[in-house]
Amino acid sequence: MEMTYIDTPADLTMPIGEAMFTQRAIRRLRHDKPIDDADLKTILDAASKAPNGGNTQPARFLVIRDRDAIQAFGKLYHEAWWAKRRDDYGWKGKADIPEGSVYAMPALLADEMVDAPAVVLAFTVGRLDDASSVFPAVQNLLLAARALGIGSVLTTLHADVMDRVYEMFDVPADAGFHCCIPLGYPRGNFGPTRRLPTSETTSWNKWGAPPPWK
Ligand SMILES: Cc1cc2nc3c(=O)[nH]c(=O)nc-3n(C[C@H](O)[C@H](O)[C@H](O)COP(=O)(O)O)c2cc1C
Repeated sequence: MEMTYIDTPADLTMPIGEAMFTQRAIRRLRHDKPIDDADLKTILDAASKAPNGGNTQPARFLVIRDRDAIQAFGKLYHEAWWAKRRDDYGWKGKADIPEGSVYAMPALLADEMVDAPAVVLAFTVGRLDDASSVFPAVQNLLLAARALGIGSVLTTLHADVMDRVYEMFDVPADAGFHCCIPLGYPRGNFGPTRRLPTSETTSWNKWGAPPPWK
């Protein structure tokens, strides 16, 4: 395999702290403002720079740009999203989603995936389950998109649709699917995310012992 060095993309100038601390799940994507292929290249170049086991680089990305293909994939995404809610909660439709549920926005994304400006599917080759060598790349991808002002959200699919997804895009059986990331400029804003304080999630020297900032 030929390996190349890539210069840092000139447009990735947002301070890393700002990108990390404002990157969040953007599910409401603008359908009227396309993304440039050049920006997608920058995003994928950033993904390629992530750590991976033994630098074996098993991550592979399928970028869906064709409108008809996104439409067809979006329908499968919708089916997959509801199949997961059926499995987890027995929900059959929007009327079953409780008022104020965190699932309201994901349900909207399930409706709107058909209109996403671009969708990236993340795979690994070799070991199908090699998630630990693809998710660092996915995180780089999310951060690079944020730095370019492009919204994204990490999503998954469901076993019910996987055969059809593989068939739709001629994905070989020796590629393992990991996640699906729609991309588009946001309707709404990037912004701060709510997370547990690190004083609660960090142990110091021994499990359960507090860090100095607790
Ligand atoms: C493994 C994984 C699976 C996810 N699946 C979905 C999904 O199916 N649909 C969705 O809308 N968001 C999905 N998300 C996004 C999470 O809901 C989101 O990262 C989390 O709620 C934090 O959102 P925030 O960064 O905006 O605070 C997933 C995230 C991860 C890491």
